[in-house]
Amino acid sequence: MLRPGIYVANDAVYLSDPSSQKPKELHKLVSRLIESDYGQIPLSLIDVGCASGAFILHARSVLNIARCVGLDISTMHLRQAQALLPWAEFINESIESLDKSKGRMFDICTCLGTMSIFDDTIAILANLLSLVKAGGSLYVADLVNDFPVDVIMRYRRSERGAEWKAGFNVRSQLTYEEAARKIDPRIELRWTDFEMPFAISQTPDPLRVWTIQTEHKPHQQVVGTGQLINFKILSARKLPRSSARLETTRQCESIAGKCPFGTSPQVL
Ligand SMILES: C[S@@+](CC[C@H](N)C(=O)[O-])C[C@H]1O[C@@H](n2cnc3c(N)ncnc32)[C@H](O)[C@@H]1O
Repeated sequence: MLRPGIYVANDAVYLSDPSSQKPKELHKLVSRLIESDYGQIPLSLIDVGCASGAFILHARSVLNIARCVGLDISTMHLRQAQALLPWAEFINESIESLDKSKGRMFDICTCLGTMSIFDDTIAILANLLSLVKAGGSLYVADLVNDFPVDVIMRYRRSERGAEWKAGFNVRSQLTYEEAARKIDPRIELRWTDFEMPFAISQTPDPLRVWTIQTEHKPHQQVVGTGQLINFKILSARKLPRSSARLETTRQCESIAGKCPFGTSPQVL
């Protein structure tokens, strides 16, 4: 049986002031998707695995965020995030247990670059969806395989004789779709591919992603585990309570009376 990998909190890579850096391309894409789904209506938002608050900082410049919560297990990140974003609330807890936040609900829940730490898809996805109101949406940015193949990873820095770590898991699109269907058959799913728009140079740290040119992609992300890094964004919308017959009528309404995901939602 596969032993659990460890995740070392307070990763130095994310311990830097987000306001001094350019927004990440992935964060820009997720903010654009939320904006195209919900426009400029006031939204409550929770970012799970928020690190030092970089996504929240960018999202607030694009979206009309009325209430905002960041959740993370890393105390040092959260201290930085709270100093940078005093208007937001930060909670130190794990998405695996979700004790303090149980019962709280938001229009938008985001979980970006964090799912690949966890081996259990369905339990984490269920916890994330429990934070979303009817009519609201979850946005997950993860390493997703087009092929129906899942990969559970353990990796370590071999030259240091270190412990095996958790991360870089890859789940198939099919696994996500089946997990979502089990949690709530009425959830609408949409997939968006993320393509890195520019080259990233390799650094001495093999665990920092860089890009190479391939036949198919000018900026294919790769990492020193030997993996191609392909992010997709899963948008999972919880149907409003009033639209129980959405599947047959092919119409929808949302918290704002606007229909995210278009007028013909795909109900999986
Ligand atoms: C790879 S970083 C991604 C940070 C950020 N979301 C981004 O897009 O830049 C993963 C983050 O998830 C947090 N994390 C790891 N395990 C967690 C857990 N069980 N519950 C909540 N957050 C967790 C880490 O502390 C870290 O800040």
